[in-house]
Amino acid sequence: MRLYLASANPGKAAELAALAAARGGPAGLEVVSAREVGGMPEVVEDTGTFAGNARKKARALAPLLPAGGWALADDSGLCVEALGGAPGVESAYLAGPVSNAAANLARLVELMRDVPEGRRAAHFVCVLVLIAPGGAERLFEGLCRGRLAAEPRGRGGFGYDPLFIPEGQEQTLAELPAEVKNRISHRARAWLECAGWLAEGAQTVH
Ligand code: IMP
Repeated sequence: MRLYLASANPGKAAELAALAAARGGPAGLEVVSAREVGGMPEVVEDTGTFAGNARKKARALAPLLPAGGWALADDSGLCVEALGGAPGVESAYLAGPVSNAAANLARLVELMRDVPEGRRAAHFVCVLVLIAPGGAERLFEGLCRGRLAAEPRGRGGFGYDPLFIPEGQEQTLAELPAEVKNRISHRARAWLECAGWLAEGAQTVH
């Protein structure tokens, strides 16, 4: 079973490929890049929700796939309580309309500069949308709760990982080993649901 990833984000692609290799799903499952079918088409992420944006990306890729191919889209982001849930679905554009992970991270550090310890709660959300070869759609969601550090720490992961300390940890997601992130992250949790469904229910879906 081949899942084509509707994303041009190399951080997400690497994590989903590692998750597919290590964490459940049917035998022979592989996650491949949209590059295999000429690249991810341009999609304007304007629905205002993770689910809507993920659906839009999966639907843009699905018609380009060879027979038997599944489309998998990931829309995700960081919701910060002290910022009223922002940046949320706009996580890729916190510092401006052109996506730039380093600038987004610096902007978040700046926005949180005066927010004291104890008021720095945040959570990551990941929505995965899967489209079967016959067009049936399924949605899976994962959440990772935690808090924001005062300064970025660590070199692993991507995006806001250097600032995010998951619940029950003292290190940021960028300091923790990739295996740990891939056990506790929002993406790992959504993937586990998705893989479980693929292993059990997918045979009956077209
Ligand atoms: P989108 O899903 O393409 O709209 O972009 C998601 C954005 O959310 C990324 O560009 C990152 O800034 C952020 N993000 C999503 N998942 C993660 C993660 O696992 N670690 C760090 N940042 C993430």
